[in-house]
Amino acid sequence: MARTQTAWQWFRWWRQWRHLPVVERGGTFQKLLRARRTTSLDWRLVRNSLPRPSTELIEMLDFGAASGEEGVTRRLSVGQLEGTASTDRRKALWLAALAESVEPRSDKDRVILELGTCLGAGAVSFVLGAGGRCRYVGLEGSPQLAALTGERLNKTAPEATVDLRVGPFRDTLPTLLAEQPRFDLVFLDGHHDGRILLDQWERLRTSILPGGWMVVDDIRWSTDMQAVWNTLAHQPDVQAVDLFRMGALRNSGPGQPTSGGPRRIPFPLLA
Ligand SMILES: C[S@@+](CC[C@H](N)C(=O)[O-])C[C@H]1O[C@@H](n2cnc3c(N)ncnc32)[C@H](O)[C@@H]1O
Repeated sequence: MARTQTAWQWFRWWRQWRHLPVVERGGTFQKLLRARRTTSLDWRLVRNSLPRPSTELIEMLDFGAASGEEGVTRRLSVGQLEGTASTDRRKALWLAALAESVEPRSDKDRVILELGTCLGAGAVSFVLGAGGRCRYVGLEGSPQLAALTGERLNKTAPEATVDLRVGPFRDTLPTLLAEQPRFDLVFLDGHHDGRILLDQWERLRTSILPGGWMVVDDIRWSTDMQAVWNTLAHQPDVQAVDLFRMGALRNSGPGQPTSGGPRRIPFPLLA
């Protein structure tokens, strides 16, 4: 797995992205693009909902790609985590737009699942995008980060139903899936490893409702993440949109048209 680190490597990804076909006018992604252009997400509100100063140290039990099976305890400041692992403004606008673009079903609120909540910036963006009318399920390995996410959601959208589950995904995901949930929106943002991403996709794909989305973060984080994203973007029954750092797959439902590969968004909307 070669990590994307240098400006030259990012430039090469950007050149590749630029040559993808752009989403068609009036096509499947129009509703999402409109939601992205018109979203009223207040990024300052998202940031200010963080209930800790950026200098505060957090002891984080990390099960990410660079840690072993048992996880590694790291001491990081809130500011470091915000700067390196948390959703930023450009991503937050897309997360809010995705939540907004999902039609609430008449009998139920939208159901949103996030793998890897970190400090809760993505969670707050989703819930605000859904206007607080959603059930949010978050899986997080670190108890301290899960607690912060809960505090933040409670402060910004107390009306949302929040279900936070703490532990490594290898334990929490099978338990959750055994309950046979159905999701409108799934955000995979935990374990940046192509093999794990493929495994999570295979486990979750049948739980996504027709018209629902699976969003993958950091699709150009490494060559193997990019290779697996590319495989997913060519799956039957999905339509794929490449936002540059993130990718989104829409479940078009069996027998519906597929995109035959990813489309990219117009340059100014890049995430
Ligand atoms: C990139 S951060 C998530 C950022 C967050 N989604 C946001 O929008 O701000 C990744 C998170 O996933 C968690 N994580 C990574 N691998 C995990 C695993 N295997 N099991 C449980 N949690 C994991 C980490 O603790 C970290 O909080």
